[in-house]
Amino acid sequence: MIKVTFYDTKPWFQVFFEKHPSRSEIDWHFVDTRLNADTAVLAKGSEAVCLFVNDQGNAQTFETFRELGVKLIVLRSAGFNNIDLEAARRLQLRVVRVPAYSPNAVAEHTLALFLTLNRKIHRAYNRVREFNFQLNGLVGHNVAGKTVAVIGAGKIGRIVAQIFKGFEAEVLAYDPYPDQAWADANGIKFVDFNEALTTADIISLHVPLTPESRHLLNKYTLPRIKKGAFIINTSRGELIETAALLEAIRQGQLGGVALDVYEEEEGVFFEDLSERGLADDDLARLLTFPNVLITSHQAFLTHEALTQIVHITTENLIRWSKGQEFLQGTELA
Ligand code: NAI
Repeated sequence: MIKVTFYDTKPWFQVFFEKHPSRSEIDWHFVDTRLNADTAVLAKGSEAVCLFVNDQGNAQTFETFRELGVKLIVLRSAGFNNIDLEAARRLQLRVVRVPAYSPNAVAEHTLALFLTLNRKIHRAYNRVREFNFQLNGLVGHNVAGKTVAVIGAGKIGRIVAQIFKGFEAEVLAYDPYPDQAWADANGIKFVDFNEALTTADIISLHVPLTPESRHLLNKYTLPRIKKGAFIINTSRGELIETAALLEAIRQGQLGGVALDVYEEEEGVFFEDLSERGLADDDLARLLTFPNVLITSHQAFLTHEALTQIVHITTENLIRWSKGQEFLQGTELA
């Protein structure tokens, strides 16, 4: 039986892992803290660790893992911007991830956020519950005929683009590696980043976080966006420079901002801070604007996506314990 320390445990994740048939082959050691320099020692006695998006997979934590005899890191996420792959290779730690568990889950949440914000469902919901049936301040926009720019036309971005086509929007896409055949087949036009920024009414980010994409929307690029445009980010918080975003909202430049991720989400998202309050002034300020809608990194959170994450993660662990190859396309280091 392989022992695995599972960091940043939350009940909705634990239950999916515990009910999986692999429970007889994997001895899960669930800990509710995130991985950092202080908590790396909790992996003592485990051959593998299971990490999520806000765990700190850096040289320091990996060195502790190496000393403790940990050999494998399984990421139960697609994004791996929090993992120092160079350090993992140097310390001979192998790393696998779940490259695609349900791009539809993320794409559908992207649309849910946008439609809620645009048609002000979040405000209407609260109003009606208080028996206020007025419509003042609830005017939205048709999506049909608007221009949508999908930044990053990979697995998720393409589905978002296709859904927006179903709304009869004109869809533009920007990607350094454009797939022209896909664009032609779906009536989508690839443009450069500047054209996407300056012409779109709705901009949706589906880009991995890398040194090049960090602060893609910043104090120089945000002012180029069309006045009244909507920004949606369900990728990674650091794609947007929060201070510049706040300034653009204050100036009244943006029609709406829908975020499932936030630059400083670690330690805030996935936690219940209702008793403590928010120490992050920028996030608190963002939440004061009626045209900002935030969810707590939940775009992946569907039954189907969780089932797939558990399946790929446990399959890789079992294969590794038997000396077999990892599932194709899952290995990072
Ligand atoms: P993918 O790898 O299939 O597609 C990413 C696309 O972005 C690629 O086509 C790539 O060429 C393009 N790209 C890379 N750098 C770019 C840049 N600077 N500008 C424009 N395009 C660029 O990835 P997938 O599966 O579509 O996921 C995208 C991101 O969504 C992930 O990296 C992850 O950060 C995020 N994500 C968020 C989740 C959530 O729950 N909120 C869940 C899963 C993923």
